[in-house]
Amino acid sequence: MANGQLSRAEALACSDCRHACHAMLYSDTKSLLFGKIPIKHIILMQMRFDGLLGFPGGFVNPSKESLEAGLCRELQEELGVALSISEDDHLDARHAPGTASCPRLITHFYAKKLEEEQIKEVEQAAVSTARDHGQEVLGMVRVPLYTTKSGGGLSSFLSHAFIANARTQLIDTLLRLQLLGPEHLHKALRHSLKTHAQGAVDLQAAITLTKAIRDQS
Ligand code: APR
Ligand code: MG
Repeated sequence: MANGQLSRAEALACSDCRHACHAMLYSDTKSLLFGKIPIKHIILMQMRFDGLLGFPGGFVNPSKESLEAGLCRELQEELGVALSISEDDHLDARHAPGTASCPRLITHFYAKKLEEEQIKEVEQAAVSTARDHGQEVLGMVRVPLYTTKSGGGLSSFLSHAFIANARTQLIDTLLRLQLLGPEHLHKALRHSLKTHAQGAVDLQAAITLTKAIRDQS
């Protein structure tokens, strides 16, 4: 398939690959930020144990369970809810950058639309009944899709650090499901790069400060 994408079947044919499945849970919403900015869609991501943003999900062993059963098991652990995810929700499979402990990794990505009430139940369960809360998952976050007057919102969100290809998965899925127009996204990304550059300047200043304090002591 194009762009390094694999079909579900091609991915499963790789006998020495590890597989990881992650999902974007989302809903429509009519709610407004500050009573005037349309929020449009609630999209759930999480702050992971490693300080990176990612989607819920994890490693699945297809010799022991289907990809979807494994994903649902991971979602139960990380979100504390039983969700039904099917093959129809499978959007993407591709080789991901490997690590020393996992040189050949294929990531599978799913998207599942829920009702707004269900999304709120997931958020509640994630902090109350989820096994991984406070351990592998530090908290759930919603993706701001809007842009504020000062340029904040989606652009600032995209300038954070993400696990593996989670940022690309987010952007691809926003476009594919038409949750956001390409023009809005393009503008947000350009602003995001500026935010990122400012972040690097701030970090450099903090390094200089901590070095000076360290050298005094
Ligand atoms: N998109 C693409 N790849 C991802 C994404 C994502 N959104 N999230 C994670 N990955 C990749 C990363 O390389 C990650 O290490 O998939 C791998 C497995 O995903 P996790 O969600 O981290 O796996 P999980 O089963 O939930 O955690 C298992 O893995 O990193 C170790 O010790 C850590 O306890 C953790 C264990
Ligand atoms: Mg995980």
